[in-house]
Amino acid sequence: MEPLKGLILSGGAGTRLRPITHTSAKQLVPVANKPVLFYGIEALVEAGVKEIGIIIAPETGDEIRAAAGDGSQFGAEITYIVQDSPAGLAHAVLTAEDFIGSSPFVMYLGDNLLRDGLRGLVSTFTEHEPDALILLTPVDDPESYGVAELDGEDNIVRLIEKPKDPPSNLALVGVYLFQNLIFDAARSLEPSWRGELEITEAIDKLIDDGRTVRSEVVRGWWKDTGQLADMLEANRLVLEELVTEIEGDVDEDSKVEGRVVIGPGAKLERAVVRGPAVIGAGAHIEDAFIGPYTSIGDDVHVRRSEVENSIVLSGSVVEDLGTRMEASLLGKEVKLTRSQGMPQTLQLLVGDRSEIKLV
Ligand code: G1P
Repeated sequence: MEPLKGLILSGGAGTRLRPITHTSAKQLVPVANKPVLFYGIEALVEAGVKEIGIIIAPETGDEIRAAAGDGSQFGAEITYIVQDSPAGLAHAVLTAEDFIGSSPFVMYLGDNLLRDGLRGLVSTFTEHEPDALILLTPVDDPESYGVAELDGEDNIVRLIEKPKDPPSNLALVGVYLFQNLIFDAARSLEPSWRGELEITEAIDKLIDDGRTVRSEVVRGWWKDTGQLADMLEANRLVLEELVTEIEGDVDEDSKVEGRVVIGPGAKLERAVVRGPAVIGAGAHIEDAFIGPYTSIGDDVHVRRSEVENSIVLSGSVVEDLGTRMEASLLGKEVKLTRSQGMPQTLQLLVGDRSEIKLV
C-alpha cells in the first residue's frame, strides 16, 4: 500500500461555541493550553503520517495557517486547502482530491480528540486494506451523530446521519481511514436534509456496493469539542494525564498541590494551585486559588479570585470576583473584575452571544 496521507478538516463555523468562534476558529480553542487542532496533527505524525492537508474555511483559514504553519514544528509537511463553502464532510473530501491523489488517507475532524491516538488504527488499515475503516463509540445521544446499525456478528449493515430513531447507540467518531474509492462514493451523493454532502452517506454507499468497511470501537476516550461542556470535559481528560513541570516562580507563601504545569515567566504570589492544572507562560496568580481541572492561558492575571474547572484564554484578567468561577470558558483578553465601592452594581461590556450566569 502507498503511504497514507492525512486530511484534517478545520473549517466550519463553530456555531455552538459562540462567542469564542466569532473571532477565532473552534479548532484553535486550547485544551490544556494547546489548540485542539495540534492534538490531531501530533496524532497523525505519531502514527507515521507526515504529509498532511488541512481543509480551511475562507473566514478562519488565515488564523489556522498562522498557528500550524508549514508543519515543521510538528515534523510534518502541511498543505492548506480552501473549502469555499461549508457543504459537508464529503464535500471537503472532494475538495482535497488533487492533494490526496491515489494515496489512501486518514481523515480527522479538527475538533476531535482521541486519547489513544491513531497508530493502532493505521496498522489495522495497512494490514487488512479494507476500503474504509471507521471508528465507533457508544454515546448517550446518538441522534446527534452518524450512527451504525450492526448485524448479530458486529458487521455494519447501515450508517445513518443524525437519525431521529437511532438503531444503536454507536456513534461515528470523527476519524476515518479511506482508500480512493471514497471519491466516487462522495461524487454520487445528493445534499442531505441539512444541505450537506455527508461522509456518513458516502461510507454507507460503499457498504451498499459490497465494499469492505471495517469498524473498531474506540478504546480510551474520544471527545468532539464542539460545545462548552465537551470542551471542559476534554480539558479535564487531558489534564488528568498531566506531568508536573514547574518553570515559573512560586513564592514561599504559595502552595502547589498535585500535578501542575507552570509555564516560563509565570509568577505565583500567595496563591494555591491545586492540580491537575496548567498555568501558562507569563501568567500572574496573586492571592488566588486555582482549582483542579483548570487551564490558565499565557499572560493571564488572576488576583484575589478563585477559579476551578475552567479554561481561561491568553491575556485575560480575573480580579476580585468574590465568588468562585466554575465550569467557565473565558476568551482572549477578557476582563472580569468587581468594583470595590458603592453602589454595588453590574457594569458590563459584553460581546454578541456571550453567556453570563450570576449567582
Ligand atoms: C460529524 C459527522 C457525524 C460524526 C461527528 C463526529 O457531525 O457528520 O457523522 O458522528 O461528526 O464528531 P457534525 O459535527 O457535522 O455534526
